[in-house]
Amino acid sequence: MTPTVAVLPGDGIGPEVTAVALSVLQACLPVELREGLIGGAAIDATGDPLPAATRELVQKSHAVFLGAVGGPKWDGGPARPEQGLLGLRRLLDVYANLRPARYLGLPVPLREGLARHANLLVVRELSSGVYFGEPRSLGPDVAINTWKQTADEVRRVAHVAFQQARKRRKLVTSVDKANVLEASALWRRVVTEIGKEYPDVTLEHRYVDAASFEILRSPQHFDVILTDNIFGDILSDEAAAVAGSIGVLPSASLGPGPGLYEPVHGAAPDIAGKGIANPTGALLTVALMLEHAFSRPDLRRAVEGSVLATLREVRTPDVGGTGTTGDFARAVHRHLAWSKWSDVEEPLPAADWGV
Ligand code: NAD
Ligand code: IPM
Ligand code: MN
Repeated sequence: MTPTVAVLPGDGIGPEVTAVALSVLQACLPVELREGLIGGAAIDATGDPLPAATRELVQKSHAVFLGAVGGPKWDGGPARPEQGLLGLRRLLDVYANLRPARYLGLPVPLREGLARHANLLVVRELSSGVYFGEPRSLGPDVAINTWKQTADEVRRVAHVAFQQARKRRKLVTSVDKANVLEASALWRRVVTEIGKEYPDVTLEHRYVDAASFEILRSPQHFDVILTDNIFGDILSDEAAAVAGSIGVLPSASLGPGPGLYEPVHGAAPDIAGKGIANPTGALLTVALMLEHAFSRPDLRRAVEGSVLATLREVRTPDVGGTGTTGDFARAVHRHLAWSKWSDVEEPLPAADWGV
């Protein structure tokens, strides 16, 4: 049976980068794409940022691809597009968000000599913390959020980080604010406990304020950065400093069921509709899907290789060029057609995915 991928293009540049990314996915594998509504587009159509039809679709799919949600049109409205994305992460229980960032040969805001050796992976806890804690409320003069963290929530994402580190340089840097926040004190205690199960991996701890400077001063130091939901949100955008643009970072959100594959960037309302969105983050997200959802590291390498080759000739304005999304898409398909089958095993046979 052909596997199903739920496609949620969303808002702003979401649909623009999604179209490119999925054309590349289809060039790699036989997949059935089923489109659904999320975010502002879903609010406009149904009043709900995560409609029931989308909930059903994603749960029946082998993997989910999301473009981006949000935009000024919905700011201050009764429902926010971002609630759709947060609801989706919760629904799929995708608690481990892998956000790799490395030097791609692009102009960077750091000294190039520093960025050149940077290759890090932010493992962000995605389904708990202050993003989801109850009670929460917004009144005219008082607003409340709750930062709740359980040991089990920390344990399961810590295991993912240590397992990823084993495939890399075997260093985990856990980032928290344990000097101030109880939720962070628990975080540090549990990560330390789990670290004992991985004696071959070095574990170090940083406070988030110091870590955020160290990422800029010595990005090459880091291997796996393990951190909670809100710190991971912030530090992963900061990590874009080693790659050159927020628009080039991919992510995979993993849990017990279908994975959610989402570029790190947002809906970029300032450039939406102009045809200049950088599709690199979305394309590298497809590469992560090929490995994690379809167990095809060979196809992941083929897509990554084609994207890197394309970045040498086509650059969108966010990375200092004048290329368009369409120019990038054509070049990446050309490189994929040239390169892919040399290093790639046979295309997937018709398999029973059980979904
Ligand atoms: P953003 O990531 O949308 O944009 C930040 C800056 O980076 C903008 O100047 C934008 O033009 C640029 N940029 C981002 N992606 C790009 C790409 N692929 N190519 C070229 N340039 C790119 O962040 P923001 O402006 O803070 O947020 C805009 C909206 O997106 C908000 O509503 C926010 O909530 C939402 N958002 C959604 C997601 C998501 O859906 N995963 C992530 C972040 C922000
Ligand atoms: C991200 C985004 C989301 C987050 C928003 C849009 C809810 O910034 O995926 O990085 O904060 O997680
Ligand atoms: Mn973010």
